[in-house]
Amino acid sequence: MLTYLALPHIPHPPLAYVTQAMVHQEEYLPGAFEGGGSVENGTADLNYTNRSVNYKGKTYKSRRQRRFPLADEFTQWCKENIDLECFNGSICTNEGNEPFHGPHIDPYRNYGLLYVVDTGGPTVTTSWWQKKDSPIMYSLEDHPPLLYYDYTDLELLNSVSMKVGMWYVINVRVLHSVENLKSRRITIQCSLNDVSRLESAVLLKNNT
Ligand SMILES: [Fe+2]
Repeated sequence: MLTYLALPHIPHPPLAYVTQAMVHQEEYLPGAFEGGGSVENGTADLNYTNRSVNYKGKTYKSRRQRRFPLADEFTQWCKENIDLECFNGSICTNEGNEPFHGPHIDPYRNYGLLYVVDTGGPTVTTSWWQKKDSPIMYSLEDHPPLLYYDYTDLELLNSVSMKVGMWYVINVRVLHSVENLKSRRITIQCSLNDVSRLESAVLLKNNT
């Protein structure tokens, strides 16, 4: 089962989108969107904005992931350079100073395609987990709880320290989280529900 895959063969996106994400980061006021989340990205749920996680017996507030639309041309660029079925090109940043973005499942997509603009710190990891006695992966139709609060019940499946300036595909139907955050993390993203063509392309690149 794929948790993540680095995609070094995918070109860097046009600099204008990276710049747009960095400018947005500078101008974005933390707290400005308090209580104003959207159903689409799950942030309308107040449990999300106030969530705490239990990690090794200590309680921490979780950061909140925020997604902002990028120009339609970016989604078109993703269709042409990654996969024709890419959708929802966006800037993704997060709010809060805590080291965690707690375990969760994304509500509306199977896979995220991330281009890392800022990792959020030198030792940041993205991790995938399985809750004891529960499925590893949930389908879009399963409607499992989207948020998880306690690392104690979770078994680590995989983790990665992503690099700036690289594309990754991540499985967001498996519980995943981000740890060791020190500063704001910025990615530009699109979404994909079927990665079979992408996996074949990576295999082909690796064998040539
Ligand atoms: Fe996620």
